[in-house]
Formats: sequence, structure tokens, C-alpha cells
Amino acid sequence: MAMDIVNPAIAKYLDDLLPAREPWFLEMEKMAEKNNFPAVGPQVGMLLEILARAIAARRIMELGSGFGYSGLWFARALPEDGFLLLSDFAEENRRRAEENFKKAGKSGIMEFRVGDALELLKQEKGPYDLIFNDIEKEFYPQVIDPAYRLLRKGGLFITDNTLWYGRVTAGQATLDKNAAFIREFNTRLMAHKGFLTVIIPLRDGVSVSIKYQ
Ligand SMILES: C[S@@+](CC[C@H](N)C(=O)[O-])C[C@H]1O[C@@H](n2cnc3c(N)ncnc32)[C@H](O)[C@@H]1O
Repeated sequence: MAMDIVNPAIAKYLDDLLPAREPWFLEMEKMAEKNNFPAVGPQVGMLLEILARAIAARRIMELGSGFGYSGLWFARALPEDGFLLLSDFAEENRRRAEENFKKAGKSGIMEFRVGDALELLKQEKGPYDLIFNDIEKEFYPQVIDPAYRLLRKGGLFITDNTLWYGRVTAGQATLDKNAAFIREFNTRLMAHKGFLTVIIPLRDGVSVSIKYQ
């Protein structure tokens, strides 16, 4: 059964505290709500921007970009000669993301690849400063090792939905398929010798790992 990870009153309080956002963010948030599309939302978006700024990221890769909402938060953190590689299965998402980046004046730093993000991970040459993972949950366990390989030391590996509506806490009998994959992912990520990881219980849970050795 789904549960609120953040108490709804706290979630509302945090939303009310958010500073004003540019119109393209608001449009994309409306679009996500209308189509029931799971974009990260402004609180996690802000966290992504802060983390990218904190490590002065210049090269960022996103796995599962949708129409570019989380990507645009990263774009805010990148310098003009930075690079943001977005990816998604859907050609339609590429078109929409490119439109949204154009509105935000950020087209110059982004490239969008249509296809399987797992293949992209295998083919890409690093190093990247930050990799953001938001693909189908069943693939999460397969992302850890290639992401580690592509990151520079001190780089961040960030993954959304790592508490999966609280379903990761279910007993074996009621554990859904995605929750089982996410549990496997969390356990392996926490045990990984080269990553130091914390799961932040913001929205649906965000894991933040630093490649420290
Ligand atoms: C949760 S949504 C991404 C939301 C986006 N990160 C945001 O916050 O705006 C997941 C997206 O990943 C894409 N996706 C899922 N599995 C994928 C895979 N293996 N390779 C490429 N794209 C994938 C889906 O098509 C979907 O658009």
C-alpha cells in the first residue's frame, strides 16, 4: 500500500516556501500534473540544482529525462560551456524537451539521445561529474556499476524514487515488483565500496551517492 513519505502538511509547507520559478517550469509542472507524468517536481529539482552547483559540475548525464523538467534544473547549474546529456525511450519526449530547453534559452548545452539509457551508459565515455537515474525501476540494479565507471572521483550518482511510495517497507508477501527491484538497488548501492550513499526522504525518496574511491 502506498504511504506518504513526507507528511502532507510538511510537503505543503515546503511547497509554499519555494521561491518563484520561471514560467517554463510552471508550464512543465502543469503539464506533468495534467498527464499524470512523474517529473521530479520543484523540491527535488532544487535539490538537483544545488548538488550540481556544490560540485561545480560541468558534465551531467540523465537517464530517463521525460520532457526535460529535471534536466532544466541541472541546466541552471551548468556553466555556458557545460554539457548535459539527456535520454529517453520516447522520440516525443525529445521533441518536447528540445522545445522546453529552447524556451529556457538552454539549448546550447544539451544533447538528447532517444533509446535505451542502459545502452547509452555502456557506450558513453566518461568522465561525468554527475549522473541522474530516473528510468524504469526494474532496471535500477543494472545502473550502479556502469554509473560508477563513468563518474569521476568526487562525482555524484543521484537516483529518484528510492522509497517508492513507502512500498519498499512492505513484507515479502505484499512486496510489488518495482519495490523489490528498488530494494535490491538500495541494498547494493549502500554496500558498494566506492560509493558513500544517503537516501533523502524528500518526495518519493532521492538517493545521493558520492564516488569517493
Ligand atoms: C520518471 S520519468 C522521467 C522524469 C524526468 N526525470 C523529470 O523529472 O522530468 C521516466 C522516463 O524515463 C523513460 N525511460 C524509462 N526507462 C528507460 C530506459 N531504459 N531508457 C530510456 N528511457 C527510459 C520513460 O520513457 C520516461 O519518460
